[in-house]
Amino acid sequence: MTSLAASAKINAPISKKLSKEIEEVIPGGVNSPFRSFHEVGGHTIFVDRGEGSKVIDADGNEYIDYVGAWGPAILGHGFAPVADAVSEVLRQGPLFGAPHKLELELARKIVASIPSIDMVRFVNSGTEAVMSSLRLARGYTGKDIIIMFEGCYHGHSDSVLASSTHKHSSGIPHDASKNTVVVPFNDLDALDQCLEKHDGQIAGVIIEPVAGSMGVVAPEPGYLNGVRDLCTKYGVVLIFDEVLTGFRVAFGGAQSLYEVEPDLTCFGKALGGGMPIGAYGGKREIMEKLMPIGDVYQAGTFSGNPITMAGAIAILNALSNPSVYSDLDKRTEQLFAGIQKHIDEINQELVAKSSPESGSLEAIPFQLQRVSSMFAFVFAAKAVKNFEDSKTIDAERFAKFFHELLANGVMLPPTAVDAACVSAAHSEADIDRTIVVCANALRKIFL
Ligand SMILES: Cc1ncc(COP(=O)(O)O)c(C=O)c1O
Repeated sequence: MTSLAASAKINAPISKKLSKEIEEVIPGGVNSPFRSFHEVGGHTIFVDRGEGSKVIDADGNEYIDYVGAWGPAILGHGFAPVADAVSEVLRQGPLFGAPHKLELELARKIVASIPSIDMVRFVNSGTEAVMSSLRLARGYTGKDIIIMFEGCYHGHSDSVLASSTHKHSSGIPHDASKNTVVVPFNDLDALDQCLEKHDGQIAGVIIEPVAGSMGVVAPEPGYLNGVRDLCTKYGVVLIFDEVLTGFRVAFGGAQSLYEVEPDLTCFGKALGGGMPIGAYGGKREIMEKLMPIGDVYQAGTFSGNPITMAGAIAILNALSNPSVYSDLDKRTEQLFAGIQKHIDEINQELVAKSSPESGSLEAIPFQLQRVSSMFAFVFAAKAVKNFEDSKTIDAERFAKFFHELLANGVMLPPTAVDAACVSAAHSEADIDRTIVVCANALRKIFL
């Protein structure tokens, strides 16, 4: 991997130095493992500041950014209305541990904009939202088993991480996943069989409606409706993990895009406008099982803090303009159409170069996968539709591509499978520049 990665070099001596120093005091030099470059090689880049679609590193290099803070930066970096709202609240006192009118305002906004949600609870991260919604589903049904899907990521709490098919960890008790059953994504028969096998013991089914950690995998047509119908048939709670898709693929999330109503939904990322947030909500009958009115415990010193609420309200106000989502879709389509044109040219050049003996040539193993502004550059011979397919992704080629882009001022998440994001701050010129950089990188790799 590193030999390929070494071919393109970014000139960032300060980042290089800091990335060594930080490893002395923070394990791996990162506070969340995906931020490290362990999959792509090389040293990490220290981001100094963000401006709209760009991030500027400690050495002054500027990059068109598609990490998007791993989802939250949907309106770009340094979005002024969030900064203004947050600073005002900060001066009044950031935290009281008592109800605040901004909690009411944000809860009302979410309830008013997402039909499946009658009530909502705010927490501090996507992980917390998932963890709490699973407990709630168990408390509501009195059952233990949770069904999840291969290749879906639901944060770092024990029961879903232990069953995660690609984010392994030691330190989790052996029996933590005893009550979690994993089935393949995009396969209704497998879910049906699993529900039948464990009938009477299942609390809920949790799914990422668009799988964001195995190459941005869209649900097949009708799949989510089928999941909904099966959950209704077997009387289990359907939980949509919309931590990544919520307020990202549409204002109403994937559930509005695919017109399927879950019983509970988890949010995070884009909802906070950059503030640390998680939220889960759904049917009143289920939500009223939460303490203090019900018997399911969930708490948090920082939950619903005024700063986060203010940031979220400011971002939702901006996101509630429908043109935001049509523009995001248009920009991402521009990116994909531009790159596809170059892929077609590369394929033609390969055919022209080939000798008659080489027979019919396959297209280059590179797929463009996206749902709205969530996308992935997938180095695989065919489109990824489930976790099995995602195993065919060529991480070495991705590493080379990643470093070619970085050296030419375009930043992607440093993993071959995780979602990249376009923001509303990306201009046509940003996208045009990205197309050229991607095309040059693909030419280097495949020609
Ligand atoms: C779908 C999904 N669920 C849950 C999480 C966990 O969220 P957090 O990192 O805020 O704990 C993530 C984060 O990547 C996610 O993408």
